Amino acid sequence: MKAAVLVKNAEAHNSFEIREVDQPKAGVGQVLIKVEAFGLNFADIMARQGNYQDCPPLPAVIGYDVVGEVVEIGAGVDNVNLGDRVTAMTRFGGYAEYALTDFRACAKIAKDYPLGKATALTTQYCTAYYCFEEMLNLYEGDKVLIHAAAGGVGTALVQLAKYAGCEIFGTAGSDEKLAYLKDLGVDHPINYRAKDFEVEVRKIVGDQGLDAVFDPIGGKSVKKGLKLLGSGGRIVLFGASDMTGANIFGKIGMGLGFGFYHPVEFMLTSKGMMGVNMLRIADDRPMVLKRCLENVVKLVAEGVLNPTEAKVFSIDEIGEAHAFLEGRQSIGKVSVCW
Ligand SMILES: NC(=O)c1ccc[n+]([C@@H]2O[C@H](COP(=O)([O-])OP(=O)(O)OC[C@H]3O[C@@H](n4cnc5c(N)ncnc54)[C@H](OP(=O)(O)O)[C@@H]3O)[C@@H](O)[C@H]2O)c1
Repeated sequence: MKAAVLVKNAEAHNSFEIREVDQPKAGVGQVLIKVEAFGLNFADIMARQGNYQDCPPLPAVIGYDVVGEVVEIGAGVDNVNLGDRVTAMTRFGGYAEYALTDFRACAKIAKDYPLGKATALTTQYCTAYYCFEEMLNLYEGDKVLIHAAAGGVGTALVQLAKYAGCEIFGTAGSDEKLAYLKDLGVDHPINYRAKDFEVEVRKIVGDQGLDAVFDPIGGKSVKKGLKLLGSGGRIVLFGASDMTGANIFGKIGMGLGFGFYHPVEFMLTSKGMMGVNMLRIADDRPMVLKRCLENVVKLVAEGVLNPTEAKVFSIDEIGEAHAFLEGRQSIGKVSVCW
């Protein structure tokens, strides 16, 4: 089978080669999928740049989400059948014509569900669902701040917060993205490049502060977010986009930017900080991932969640697809089809 193999840590157009690789076989509890399309995630950009610690040694086939047809199932698989169209989270190996997944990371979808939306349901929507529903409980009227709100995970978080009846603050880096956030129903869209989000949020929430912050940026953004939390508020850290393209000094600066905290501070101020890594959840708590994915698919069927398709590239445009996501041009999910 063919795969887009990450052969070196380089710029988007020079990092991948389409190569023949061995086709995997479904073992116990596994599902083999003939891939129609795979999704890009920001972690892929970091892996390509050599900034992602979980990435396998190169050459490697990366990729976390695929949509396609089930062509082989191992013993013990009871949630999908041969011929089903599924969306699935892969533990790397997604940038290929055939991809293996654990059955608990796989869900059936309608034959006509758009592939550019289907690829968003696993990594991005499950991450958002896990952060929003499993890490926190938020209620109507709660004030939440969502960073990179026009992105894949960001769009999902906004839709979940909207459904819960929260008052939403969303940051993004362009006026086009701000207009998109308004359409999604974000109450207070903030262009963080033009204005300091901490000042803008504070003007509205005053001393009461926020109930929750969702931060995939890292560094100073976390320190500011923590300051904005009111009593009982929690910040969920799930990424470090700010590290993108940084040299060693930039990385050190970003690390220091997070700030230093003593656990007692959290107790005295009644605030919480929590971290999410969906790979750890997929590896160590697969039934939690299964539950998240089932709930995401259900909420999509009910019309509560509806991913935004940023763009579907063809396999020979894999470099363009990476450059598009890395260059902050995408709104919603970026996919690549075979
Ligand atoms: N912890 C987990 O398990 C997990 C799982 C999935 C995703 N994530 C994280 O969630 C975040 C969003 O992922 P995604 O796949 O949905 O990507 P995305 O949000 O669709 O795209 C990335 C967006 O991040 C913003 N950004 C902020 N700083 C950036 C920088 N230095 N370089 C490039 N972009 C920057 C840009 O939006 P603006 O133009 O608005 O700045 C960009 O469009 C990433 O940090 C990712 O690593 C974590």
